[in-house]
Amino acid sequence: MFFNQIDPAPSDPILGLTEAFNSDPRATKVTLGVGVFVDDQGATPVLECIRRAERLLWETERTKTYLPISGIREYGQSVAHLVFGSDFHALAADRVAVAQTPGGTGALRVGAELLKAFRPQATLWVPNPTWGNHPGVFGAAGFSAKAYPYYNAATKAVDVDAMCAALEQVPAGDVVLLHVCCHNPTGADLDAEGWARVAEIAAKAGWLPFFDFAYQGFGAGIEQDRAGLLSMLQKVPEALIASSFSKNMGLYGERVGALLLVAESAPAAAAGLSHVKRLVRVLYSNPPRHGGALAAMVLADEDLRRLWVEELTAMRQRIQSVRQQLVEGLAARNTGVDFSFIARQNGMFSFSGLDEAQVTFLREEKGIYLVKGGRINVAGLNTANLDFVCDAIAESLKR
Ligand code: LMR
Repeated sequence: MFFNQIDPAPSDPILGLTEAFNSDPRATKVTLGVGVFVDDQGATPVLECIRRAERLLWETERTKTYLPISGIREYGQSVAHLVFGSDFHALAADRVAVAQTPGGTGALRVGAELLKAFRPQATLWVPNPTWGNHPGVFGAAGFSAKAYPYYNAATKAVDVDAMCAALEQVPAGDVVLLHVCCHNPTGADLDAEGWARVAEIAAKAGWLPFFDFAYQGFGAGIEQDRAGLLSMLQKVPEALIASSFSKNMGLYGERVGALLLVAESAPAAAAGLSHVKRLVRVLYSNPPRHGGALAAMVLADEDLRRLWVEELTAMRQRIQSVRQQLVEGLAARNTGVDFSFIARQNGMFSFSGLDEAQVTFLREEKGIYLVKGGRINVAGLNTANLDFVCDAIAESLKR
């Protein structure tokens, strides 16, 4: 027997929460777990720009044949423009190579495989804390992850001094994972000065940055959110970047992402991409075409792109307004805890500071689902559930 010998694996700390939520019979249950945008009616809608692109695609697409291993060419070009902005792209386009991947997770995994192939002894450094799946993705490619200090739970901000002191000690040849914006899970980002310091250190120490850029447009805006990345690329000649349209185009289940390689020269970028293709071929052969075609259409068509930017702006503004309502709702309940930091965090997530017992109380007693470390998907709050959640958090703090 084969399966009889296998013990069940633990459920995923983030996606497993959705499964538990779905099977919870309570009518008042609230999901604040997985990072998906939710509107005030509790839906995660298909963006209008995507619906229009889908109609266009249905009218014009004549084949479902395989994509090239590195994906749709126009998609890659548009992604590079979006990620870098036109100025940098004009300077560096020839030393950038792009592969379309199944989501940002796919990009991270392919990048990890590439690094493992050519830097087998390297250590991967991740911020403490980081997205729960980072160690797993890199671990599956054979990397052991070590943590560098990042979040200061007392100040609720990035501990830049501790982070810089640690990154100065990272040996040349190692790989440092950096969240470009909307840090997952804390929502605390480096400011311009912090990025400049990290860039100086990277240039001097010689480690390789791997940027996770899954939330472009959810922080301050499409251009503003890439500022840290660009300040690093002015100092370091090489980088890997994992980007994603899961959140900013709402294409979650279509799995639309990209791995971008920035090399020192055009031949080096081409060599890197040739190995990415070799690795992709044995992992999943070639990327799925539907979502990439939609994203490429939205980025290339002026009207669709304008509509997309409007819709993205509306999502960002809704989250910012909900942050404010959460801060006010908790302040009104006199919990004795200052939650004003929630309004200063960026992106979908708030690192609430709630401990494991409080998170368990919220889930078991109230049917409110948060990730174990206390991360709240702020977008999951709405007019109908905000008071209930504020009451429950206040109760959890009194226990
Ligand atoms: C999250 O952190 O909730 C999202 O990035 C979704 C995921 O795959 O974990």
